[in-house]
Amino acid sequence: MSDAEAQKRAAGEAAARLVESGMVVGLGTGSTAAWFVKALGARGLDITCVATSTATAQLAAGLGLTIAELGDTGEIDLTVDGADEIGPGLSLIKGGGGALLREKLVWEASRRCVVIADAAKTVTTLGRFPLPIEVVAFGHKITALRICDALSECDIGVAPRLRMRDGQPVRTDGGNLIYDAACGRIEEPAALASSLKSVTGVVEHGLFLDLAEQALIGGASGVITLDP
Ligand code: A5P
Repeated sequence: MSDAEAQKRAAGEAAARLVESGMVVGLGTGSTAAWFVKALGARGLDITCVATSTATAQLAAGLGLTIAELGDTGEIDLTVDGADEIGPGLSLIKGGGGALLREKLVWEASRRCVVIADAAKTVTTLGRFPLPIEVVAFGHKITALRICDALSECDIGVAPRLRMRDGQPVRTDGGNLIYDAACGRIEEPAALASSLKSVTGVVEHGLFLDLAEQALIGGASGVITLDP
């Protein structure tokens, strides 16, 4: 196992120890969240889980965890999820795995959100990782032009690229498309978030601001805790 994978695993296992029987738990998506889900499954607690993607729901169900639909449980006590970048104040870029919309819906329905990651994910300024932006398929090329305008308003002069896999546009669990914007540096994430949300056709973006209450970061000398 690589160092990064070992760090993801350590962070996931540390987060699983935060869960107690009786909780409603939000399950993130991605390779780090998968370590959390596996560690949670191994604990055999009496919990109800809400998954942020079909892939996570399948993984969790296979481990014997009880899965409920978002909205069919009481408030989610704790959501644990990975991130692509963790910046100042626990501002995040998420959506590298394409689950940003369901992730944000679950995060916003949670009393507490903890982000887990390997040490390489922490940055001093967000933007090195291309920002995922989920859009409806209808008219997406026009929406991409409007996204360019929204980026320009924030002094970011890049054209977003349609995410492709095997020669086809990637579809999210909700059937939407994703554009990735290689911003470089996002100096004002809140302004960019608001600008992107104002574009008709944009369903959601991968900036998660003021949502994470804590980060558990795997590193060479164990897991450290970061607060906003
Ligand atoms: C999924 O859409 C993402 O938000 C993931 O949480 C993010 O991409 C981190 O993934 P890894 O844990 O696989 O790095």
